[in-house]
Amino acid sequence: MNKITWKGSVLLGPIPPVLVSCGTPEAPNVFTVAWAGIVNTHPPRVSISVRPSRHSYGLIQESGAFVINLPTTALARAVDWCGVKSGRDVNKFEAMGLTALPASQVGCPLVGESPVNLECKVFQQIPLGTHDLFLADVVAVNVSENLLDAAGKLHLERAGLLAYAHGQYYSLGEELGTFGWSVRKKQPPVKKGAAPKKPGFEKAPRKAGETKRGPAPKKAGYAPRRPKKK
Ligand SMILES: Cc1cc2nc3c(=O)[nH]c(=O)nc-3n(C[C@H](O)[C@H](O)[C@H](O)COP(=O)(O)O)c2cc1C
Repeated sequence: MNKITWKGSVLLGPIPPVLVSCGTPEAPNVFTVAWAGIVNTHPPRVSISVRPSRHSYGLIQESGAFVINLPTTALARAVDWCGVKSGRDVNKFEAMGLTALPASQVGCPLVGESPVNLECKVFQQIPLGTHDLFLADVVAVNVSENLLDAAGKLHLERAGLLAYAHGQYYSLGEELGTFGWSVRKKQPPVKKGAAPKKPGFEKAPRKAGETKRGPAPKKAGYAPRRPKKK
C-alpha cells in the first residue's frame, strides 16, 4: 500500500464524543469531549483533556469532579450543540431538554438520557499544551436498567452508542466478533433442533488425565484409568 507521510497530528479514531457534565444541581453545565479515554483498570481511572478556555474547565477545577455520559445516536444533536455553545451564555441542559439527575458520589449532575454515566473524581491535572489532562477515579457507574437482562448482564450493544472520527459522527455498525473470538476453538456445526449455545467463553476439551484443576499430579505408579475389558 502506498503511503504519504504528514507531520504529527492526533488522527485517532473512532472515539466516543462523550457528554461531560459538571457544575452543581442548581447551576449544571454539560459540554462535549472527544479527547477522553480509559487509562487504568484497577483502580478504574479515566482521562479527559480540556482547554482552559472552556467554561467547564473552571467548574471541574473548582469541584474536582465531573461525570462522563456515554452518547447515543439519539443524543447526536445534543452532543454537537453542547460542543459549540458555552455554559457561560446558556443553560445547555434546558436548551437541549436534557434531564439533570443527582449523582451518587459527586456533586455534579448526570445526564438522564445517557444510558451510562461514570461519576469521576479528579486526582491529577497535567497541563500538556493546548489542553489540560484531568486524570480521575471512576467512583460510581450508573447504567440504565433496560440494558440489563434478567441475569443482570449488561447489553451495551442495545444502547445505540455514537462514535466520532475525523470530524464526523457515526452510529456503530454490525458486530464482527467478541473479545478473544479470533483464538477460540471453532465449534462443530449445530445439529438441527439442538438448543443454541449460550454466548461466552468456550472451554477447550479436557485432555486424558487432566482434572478440573489442570493436569493430574504425576505420582509414582499413577496411570490414567482405562475402561475395564469385558
Ligand atoms: C465533537 C466535539 C468534540 C470536542 N472535544 C473537546 C475536547 O476533547 N476537549 C475540549 O476542551 N473541548 C472539546 N470540544 C469543544 C467544547 O465542547 C466546546 O468548546 C464547548 O462549547 C465548551 O463548553 P463550555 O464553555 O460550556 O465548557 C469538542 C466539541 C465537539 C463538537
